Amino acid sequence: MQIKLENLNKSYDSVDNGQKTVIHAVDGVCLDIPENTVFGIIGKSGAGKSSLVRLVSMLEKPDSGKVFYGEKRVDNLPKKELIAERRKIGMIFQNFNLFSSRTAGKNVAYPLEIAGVPRDKIASKVKEMLALVGLSDRENAPISTLSGGQKQRVAIARALAAEPEILFCDEATSALDPNTTHQILNLIKEIQKKMNLTVVMITHQMEVVRDACESVAVIENGRVVECGKVKDIFTNPKTQTTRDFIKNIAMGASDSKNSGIVKWTEKTGSYLLHFMGDATGEPLLCKMAKEFDVCFNILAAGISHLPDEDVGYMEADISGDDAAVEKAVEWLSQHNVRVQKK
Ligand SMILES: Nc1ncnc2c1ncn2[C@@H]1O[C@H](COP(=O)(O)OP(=O)(O)OP(=O)(O)O)[C@@H](O)[C@H]1O
Ligand SMILES: [Mg+2]
Repeated sequence: MQIKLENLNKSYDSVDNGQKTVIHAVDGVCLDIPENTVFGIIGKSGAGKSSLVRLVSMLEKPDSGKVFYGEKRVDNLPKKELIAERRKIGMIFQNFNLFSSRTAGKNVAYPLEIAGVPRDKIASKVKEMLALVGLSDRENAPISTLSGGQKQRVAIARALAAEPEILFCDEATSALDPNTTHQILNLIKEIQKKMNLTVVMITHQMEVVRDACESVAVIENGRVVECGKVKDIFTNPKTQTTRDFIKNIAMGASDSKNSGIVKWTEKTGSYLLHFMGDATGEPLLCKMAKEFDVCFNILAAGISHLPDEDVGYMEADISGDDAAVEKAVEWLSQHNVRVQKK
């Protein structure tokens, strides 16, 4: 299901020290979220992510603007239609929001009971969903006996039991350790493909975007400041906010698959090079140095594994005759290396 947002606005009144102020939590947001993909929305705390998701998921009405699911406008529906449209949505949250008094299986059964699904159908669907998330053996387990990762698996099974077309994940992995985060993201990606879902992943962690999303919108102060394919945002960030997110990830990457950037001097290079696809496996700098009679000095380097592609980063000085350096840089650009002068 494709989602389209047209000029969405939402303000809240806030009282601070007895002073009444208006917070423009969502400010003129326009977005096209394609169907059958994992789409990230990233922003710092207070940027307006949850406010935006409440509008997109029809939990709240915008002050102005429109929300479309496919061709259908859904932000102004009467109650009955709204309930029908909301069946197309599943949601998961940071704190899981499970019923602690119910078992894992009974949590998954809940939305089906509400929808009036016959009992035998519920029983088979619960088994199917628990198998999908790898928890077949925990159907009768009380929620309190499950780990955080297992709780989120139950939440995913519950969110998807009624076969929605859209899954919203609001900071779904923020309470989990890096290893469990990795497993849950892989599970979400796998299920997205199996069920042809549109997944909207809200996060403040660039690692989540890097590891799970195809496209991403960066939001700040309620506005979309940058939007595009993850690999383009990573290799060519346009705003300082995005650069800050990427910088953090390079320094702090913690799982073994992503080595992050290794920096062996505090000096910064005059060029930032991004090696895309085939370029990551070739001795391009060596060839460049020979062909154009220039020298290079590498100051920092690393490889990030995006979902579709490996991207290598390098900070380097390239020195020599000015014209030769210019030609060398041009040659790199023609060989799948994106070159930014710093
Ligand atoms: N119901 C509300 N009443 C008053 N202010 C609100 C309300 N909901 C959100 N806000 C304000 O709107 C702004 C955006 O909040 P929001 O919860 O959407 O941010 P967020 O990006 O989800 O942050 P976090 O990463 O901390 O979850 C904040 O300044 C918040 O205080
Ligand atoms: Mg939030």
